[in-house]
Amino acid sequence: MKKLTIAIDGPAGAGKSTVAQIAARCLKYTYIDTGAMYRAVTWLAMTRKISPQNSQALTDEVCKVDLKLELVEDKTMVYVDGIDVTEQIRTPEVSRKVAEIAQIPEIREVLILKQREMARLGGVVMDGRDISSCVLPDADVKIFLTASIEERAKRRWQELISTGVNVSLKNITHDIASRDKKDYEREIAPLKQVPDAMLIDTTGLTIEDTVQRILDACKERSGVV
Ligand code: CDP
Repeated sequence: MKKLTIAIDGPAGAGKSTVAQIAARCLKYTYIDTGAMYRAVTWLAMTRKISPQNSQALTDEVCKVDLKLELVEDKTMVYVDGIDVTEQIRTPEVSRKVAEIAQIPEIREVLILKQREMARLGGVVMDGRDISSCVLPDADVKIFLTASIEERAKRRWQELISTGVNVSLKNITHDIASRDKKDYEREIAPLKQVPDAMLIDTTGLTIEDTVQRILDACKERSGVV
């Protein structure tokens, strides 16, 4: 089968990273979590105390650091200048700030160039908000993954509780709704379903069912049905 480029977009908690990673493993492709890159930049801004308003200083800092994603035993490890920030980028504090950082045009420019370079040779599953619309508009397979806000909040809450982070479902629902609003309404590269993307609503769907739909779309695209 020809090595495809697969773009998966959708709002927080739709299940993108879980299914994208399994689909990548089934296809022996590379999985690229672009959200982790925006989260790492947010972590950088927070730890170096650079305000999002000072976009030039933050962009300079992002250009200077070595930002690396590495898949180790089914987990995307994230390193900033060799520091393992994998866990720290998932905290509710980072989640609350990331959409603001992701609105900065210069930051998007720098990260998009990195993402395109990572996908250059094909054989990748990339997930995010603007992959089909902006990063890889020529992707072979485009998926828009979504689910009801209740279901997405419940999934994210369970994920956080299982890692020992004590948060209420009400707060998580509020955080996700406010991040959705920023992601959908921002001027640059807003979250949207492009006309040629396949919509998958994962409310009530199992992970396996969702992955299977993506794999079927890939087979169809390669002409192997
Ligand atoms: O995992 P979750 O769905 O919570 O979000 P994520 O994929 O880790 O992305 C975190 C945030 O980064 C999003 O809410 C967006 O604000 C931003 N993002 C973006 O703007 N463009 C992307 N390609 C990926 C993420």
